[in-house]
Amino acid sequence: KKIVLAYSGGLDTSIIVKWLQQQYQAEVITFTADLGQGEELEPARKKAEMMGVKQIYIEDVREEFVRDFVFPMFRANALYEGTYLLGTSIARPLIAKRLVEIAREVGADAVAHGSTGKGNDQVRYELSAYALNPNIKVITPWREWDFKSRTDLLDFAEKNQIPIAKDKRGEAPFSVDANLLHSSSEGKVLEDPSKEAPPYVFMRTVAPEDAPDVATYVEIGFEKGDPISVDGVQLSPASLLTKLNELGRDNGIGRLDLVENRFVGMKSRGIYETPGGTILLAAHRAMESLTLDREAAHLKDSIMPRYAELIYYGFWFSPEREMLQALIDKSQEHVEGTVRLKLYKGNAIVVGRSSPKSLYSDALVTFEDDRGAYDQKDAAGFIRLNALRLRTLAARDQRG
Ligand code: ARG
Ligand code: SIN
Repeated sequence: KKIVLAYSGGLDTSIIVKWLQQQYQAEVITFTADLGQGEELEPARKKAEMMGVKQIYIEDVREEFVRDFVFPMFRANALYEGTYLLGTSIARPLIAKRLVEIAREVGADAVAHGSTGKGNDQVRYELSAYALNPNIKVITPWREWDFKSRTDLLDFAEKNQIPIAKDKRGEAPFSVDANLLHSSSEGKVLEDPSKEAPPYVFMRTVAPEDAPDVATYVEIGFEKGDPISVDGVQLSPASLLTKLNELGRDNGIGRLDLVENRFVGMKSRGIYETPGGTILLAAHRAMESLTLDREAAHLKDSIMPRYAELIYYGFWFSPEREMLQALIDKSQEHVEGTVRLKLYKGNAIVVGRSSPKSLYSDALVTFEDDRGAYDQKDAAGFIRLNALRLRTLAARDQRG
């Protein structure tokens, strides 16, 4: 029996390697993805080797992540519950996809992941895996094993010679998930939503109050709704997001403290840092403001919450996501040009936008001289007909 495990190299997933080997008498194959979490991945190889893992997959998937998952999502301006940029939600389908592909390559009939039974991530991994292979088995150790506490886990690690870093002896102060789009911190010291997060939680942005006193200007170029350049320099998707992350970090942009509704039913409090994504959202909206027709813009905006919700819930690989994506992608045909922003102490402020496909018309909007493009007299009939029903209603109210 072979099981392909999403392996971070950390203590918990190392315990899972051992546990799967023992519990299932299985050969464990590890998959470790570089999603831009900013951690060395070679130590994960060493640790896997030490535990007797023979097939070790370590892959840099940053370009695929940004090009095929992050950018398509940003075309929609997706925000879950009005604020969350979905940094964790959008990474899970990619990991699940590679797990399923590797399982096929090595002839495994099961995949496994290290998410708990209380969160969204288990749902995302598993829905994605089943959507891609109806016969795959998914093993979720956190839902199966008998460990009751952190101490049980540490005892098991000790007994099986899994190295435990000194600082991991005690309880981790909170749980972290990070990739090129964001870092997310939840649990433990963050669990009381009435208490401000301690400064040490933040890992990829300076505090806005410590950011420079002078603004930084940046110009982002777009084509078909995707960013392609920063300050005139063309960049690959992952390098572009990396660049925006640096600018966002230095200017204290993209911090978020929220309480969200998990798909499994509970509310949870999270601290997010999405520096580049926050700049990108502002820039993309500005690019659309110039290039999208009003009704096209309003229509795509009206489906955005639904689209965000289904990514949050784990339905990336579903017909409804693909249908909405087709609508969104169609809307982006002419979303090109450049947006200029000013980054200053936690803010990404749009200050200019221009496009060869602009629908903005000086001739139409000017207060100076109409030159026949727009006849103000036309507005009288337009308002009169639109008021007809309102006047009918008001007349009825007057009759009492
Ligand atoms: N609540 C976020 C989501 O569901 C992040 C989950 C993972 N984060 C973590 N710190 N373990 O997308
Ligand atoms: C987890 O429970 O593994 C992380 C949190 C989540 O999935 O929402």
